[in-house]
Amino acid sequence: MEHVRAVVFDAYGTLLDIHAAMGRYAARLGPNWQQISADWRMKQVEYSWVRSLAGPAYHRDFWHLTEEALVWAASRHGIHEAELLADILMAYRHLDAYPEVPVVLRHLRDKGLQRAILSNGEPGMLRDAVHTAGLADLLNAVLSVEAVGVFKPDPRVYRLACEHFGLAASQMAFVSSNPWDAFGALAFGYKVFWVNRTGQRAEYDLHGKVAEIRDLSALVGMVG
Ligand code: LAC
Repeated sequence: MEHVRAVVFDAYGTLLDIHAAMGRYAARLGPNWQQISADWRMKQVEYSWVRSLAGPAYHRDFWHLTEEALVWAASRHGIHEAELLADILMAYRHLDAYPEVPVVLRHLRDKGLQRAILSNGEPGMLRDAVHTAGLADLLNAVLSVEAVGVFKPDPRVYRLACEHFGLAASQMAFVSSNPWDAFGALAFGYKVFWVNRTGQRAEYDLHGKVAEIRDLSALVGMVG
C-alpha cells in the first residue's frame, strides 16, 4: 500500500469495544445482554441516518442519540431502571479499546504516519473515551462530525480528515468495522480497511474493493 500518509479510524466498534458498556452490567441485565447491546447499537446508528436525511434542523449530537437509543433498546427488553441505564450510559463514555490498538497506533507513529479518529461521536464523549482508553497521546487528531453537523456516510464528514491533514483521500487509509462506513469512505476515495472481527457477511459490494482484516494488527506491514 504505497503513498499512504495518514490513517483515519472510526471510533466506536473499531478502536473501542462498544459492547463493553453493557458487558460490565451483564449480571444485572440478564442473559440477553448481548442482544440488548446489539439493539442499542442498531438504533443508535438508525437515528443518526434518519436525522441526517431529515435535514440540519433535525440534527442532534451522538451523545443524545446514544441515550435515546439506550432507553429504546432497554425498554424493548423490559428494562426501565433509571439508575441502571444511567450507569450503562456513563460506561459508554469509558469504553475499553481493543487490546491490539495501542501497539498498532505506536507502530504507525514510528513509521511516520499521521493518525486520527473520525467519528460520529460528539467531542466530549470522544475526549472521555480516548483518555480512558489511553489513546490520547497516540493520535494526532480526534475529529468529530459535529464540525459539519451531519453524520456518516455524508461526504462532508469524510472531507474533514482531508482538510485537517491537507491530504487527498487517496493518500489516506480509512479503517472501520462498520460496512456502511467503509462504503462511505470508499465512495469518497479513501483506501479502505474493513475490520471484520466477527466474520460478518460482506455488504455494499465491498468484497474485492476494500482490504478485509480480522483485527487492527493486520495494518502492520500493510500500511507504512
Ligand atoms: C463512529 C461510529 C459510527 O465512531 O462507529 O463514527
